[in-house]
Amino acid sequence: MTLEHSIMAVLAIIGGLAVLVLCAGLLIALLVYVTSREDVNCVFDRDPAARTTFEVMTCYPGLHARVVHRVSHALWKSGFKWPARFLSHLARSVTGIEIHPGATIGRRFFIDHGMGVVIGETAEVGDDVTLYHGVTLGGTSWKEGKRHPTLGNGVVVGAGAKVLGPILVGDNAKIGSNAVVVKDVPVGATAVGVPARILDEARKAAGFNPYGIGNDQNDPFAKAIHGLLGHSMVVDQRLELILAHLEKLGINVDDDRATADKFDPRHLNKIVD
Ligand SMILES: CC(C)(COP(=O)(O)OP(=O)(O)OC[C@H]1O[C@@H](n2cnc3c(N)ncnc32)[C@H](O)[C@@H]1OP(=O)(O)O)[C@@H](O)C(=O)NCCC(=O)NCCS
Repeated sequence: MTLEHSIMAVLAIIGGLAVLVLCAGLLIALLVYVTSREDVNCVFDRDPAARTTFEVMTCYPGLHARVVHRVSHALWKSGFKWPARFLSHLARSVTGIEIHPGATIGRRFFIDHGMGVVIGETAEVGDDVTLYHGVTLGGTSWKEGKRHPTLGNGVVVGAGAKVLGPILVGDNAKIGSNAVVVKDVPVGATAVGVPARILDEARKAAGFNPYGIGNDQNDPFAKAIHGLLGHSMVVDQRLELILAHLEKLGINVDDDRATADKFDPRHLNKIVD
């Protein structure tokens, strides 16, 4: 090889690298541009481990996947199906999170940890939704059309849970880790197990605070107080039952009801959190 050929080869390599760096730079600039302040803030709100904006922007695959999906979804809607799929595929390779570009995602969406999350083409996700790693929003049929779930606002889906079929998970519902959900989940309900069952509403209203929602989920005192508040509510319900039975027997219990203190477990739970 002559000196001239060697110089040409080195120049070609440098040129190639420069183009690669330029493309990567442009892509990163585009992603930073489409990252909104609330994308970052919702990470701080829901992950106590998040420390700085730089850390969130660089170390959270859930944020990266969400931002790339914003671009791939726009491409998909504009008819650029292959570039949209390819971009989504690249994001999956980097983040371990697969969001089909056709999926509709709301605001302040947060995927914690992320690895192994799959979100299908016709899935619809409301605002303020949180998913943990290993969650599938999948289909149960090969028919075209709506075949993936719809999640309402404020839904939390625990690690490893599978939500399958064109079902509706109501606003603020919670899905337990590793649950397999194949039926609608009512607003505010908690579903656990395989197949998922709905946890008792009265116990939940008593203030059983799901992990991933409260600020103090790792605080043993907060947990203990939540437990005591829940227990107090169950005791109140039993007393109310006894009063109702006494009333049926013709005993006047109006005074007992009038003098009962105004116990508000929801308010107290909020104070603890
Ligand atoms: C489902 C969840 C929200 C329930 O929280 P909760 O309302 O406080 O419920 P409790 O802890 O009081 O449990 C109520 C009942 O459900 C059961 N349960 C709770 N979570 C369950 C789960 N994931 N699978 C099966 N059963 C579960 C409890 O054993 C209990 O059963 P019991 O009534 O027979 O004793 C919570 O347990 C959960 O799974 N959160 C997801 C957390 C997660 O994925 N974190 C990942 C961090 S990396």
